[in-house]
Amino acid sequence: MKIKTKSKKVDKAWLAGHVQDPYVKRAQQEGYRSRAAYKLEQIDEALGLVRPGQVVVDLGSAPGAWSQVLRRRFAPKTAGVGGAAPGELRGTIVALLGGRPVDLVVSDMAPNLSGIESADAARIAHLVELALDFALRHLKPEGALVCKVFHGSGYSQLVEAFKGDQAQGLA
Ligand SMILES: C[S@@+](CC[C@H](N)C(=O)[O-])C[C@H]1O[C@@H](n2cnc3c(N)ncnc32)[C@H](O)[C@@H]1O
Repeated sequence: MKIKTKSKKVDKAWLAGHVQDPYVKRAQQEGYRSRAAYKLEQIDEALGLVRPGQVVVDLGSAPGAWSQVLRRRFAPKTAGVGGAAPGELRGTIVALLGGRPVDLVVSDMAPNLSGIESADAARIAHLVELALDFALRHLKPEGALVCKVFHGSGYSQLVEAFKGDQAQGLA
């Protein structure tokens, strides 16, 4: 397949693989803004964290697929509609808080990777620490944090941070 791009920075092999990716195709068919939707769907199918009536904060939400999944989970009776389900809404998805305690924080924050391992690891770790700090300040005592973490240098320190005294109550 030939793909024309204006920028030489775009890796054409990556782009060709991306458009053939089954999750990318499925996301387009089902009205999701990105394939990331299926990551949160699978996490939630395994752990059952998202429930109607909750207050959920989506950190690093653009382009918005995780928020679409959350919106769909909050419209449990709306079937067969692509992307974010319209109609019934049971729950709250927030970008800015109004002092309300939160049931669930989901963070898919990720930096643009430079390819320099030490710099990327530091940026990733910083975003995880921000998400954890946010969760500790805003979650209810039995609340949960779903957070993107990359395996690499610094991973074990992040795991330790999640095991810290303050984070112990989190699911
Ligand atoms: C993988 S994308 C998230 C995809 C999203 N969950 C979805 O379903 O569409 C990573 C996101 O992290 C955001 N991000 C990166 N650094 C950030 C920061 N310091 N603060 C907030 N968001 C950040 C990016 O802007 C981008 O929207």
